[in-house]
Amino acid sequence: MIAAQRMFARIRGALTLAALALLGLALVVLPAPARAADYGPQPGLMKIGIVGAGKMGGTLAELWSKAGYQVMISSRHPDELRSEAQSIGPNVSVGTPRDAAAFGDVVVIAVPYGQEPQVGKELTPVLDHKVVIDLGNPYPQRDGPMAVKARAEGTGVASPRFFPRVRLVRAFNAITYVDLRSDAHRAGEPVAIPIASNDAQATRMVSRLVRAAGYAPVVVGPLSTAKLFDVGTAVYVKPMSASQLRAALGLPAH
Ligand SMILES: NC(=O)c1ccc[n+]([C@@H]2O[C@H](COP(=O)([O-])OP(=O)(O)OC[C@H]3O[C@@H](n4cnc5c(N)ncnc54)[C@H](OP(=O)(O)O)[C@@H]3O)[C@@H](O)[C@H]2O)c1
Repeated sequence: MIAAQRMFARIRGALTLAALALLGLALVVLPAPARAADYGPQPGLMKIGIVGAGKMGGTLAELWSKAGYQVMISSRHPDELRSEAQSIGPNVSVGTPRDAAAFGDVVVIAVPYGQEPQVGKELTPVLDHKVVIDLGNPYPQRDGPMAVKARAEGTGVASPRFFPRVRLVRAFNAITYVDLRSDAHRAGEPVAIPIASNDAQATRMVSRLVRAAGYAPVVVGPLSTAKLFDVGTAVYVKPMSASQLRAALGLPAH
């Protein structure tokens, strides 16, 4: 009886060791689950042009490049950006602001707000009817008197004057570039990004890009409602989940 028990114990021990060995082998041999970035550029995804590859533009380029999008970052001195583009990923190219505006199905304007009137004037012929994300915030100390006016009327009213013939979307203005990098794809409920636009299709396209960057889109309403998440509002640069943001803005729960 005792001899039989010992034999079963030995067999059980041997089976456990074999199972552990197989598990170890699987961990070494099997590939890690693939992320979009492991595949490089994804065919069929919209192309993104970024005008102003500074703190915000550069961070968004990283997030979308990791998600497999083709991104063109830009500068008035494109040669100075080449090594940054290479370090972000193989699907990131470099050009002038005009090149980026022509490249993107969606174009992000990520320049100081005070530069938007000039940038809009230069790029309007290339941007004609494109989806344009405006993430600029008016700061009078940096941008001068135009920022005082934009704050009073709201960016959703001011910005369309700078970009008259585009499908404008306000998004990504109410998060700092530091949070934008660190909160992307965070565990648990994603951080919400408020969006305002008058164009339903542009809203859908930008919502997709918000999700690809690792965030939850919250559609607040038409451009006039961008004022609800402009500089100085209760939700400005305060990371919240979608349900928290909806509650803070008085939007119906989803
Ligand atoms: N920083 C944040 O956390 C944050 C968060 C939300 C929103 N925002 C808003 O986002 C906008 C960009 O902020 P940022 O912090 O990313 O600025 P930034 O780091 O200073 O970058 C601004 C970029 O704009 C480009 N630029 C400036 N004037 C230009 C012009 N006339 N034509 C074309 N490009 C021009 C510059 O590129 P070149 O000099 O290389 O051409 C530079 O790379 C601002 O309106 C800001 O208020 C910032």
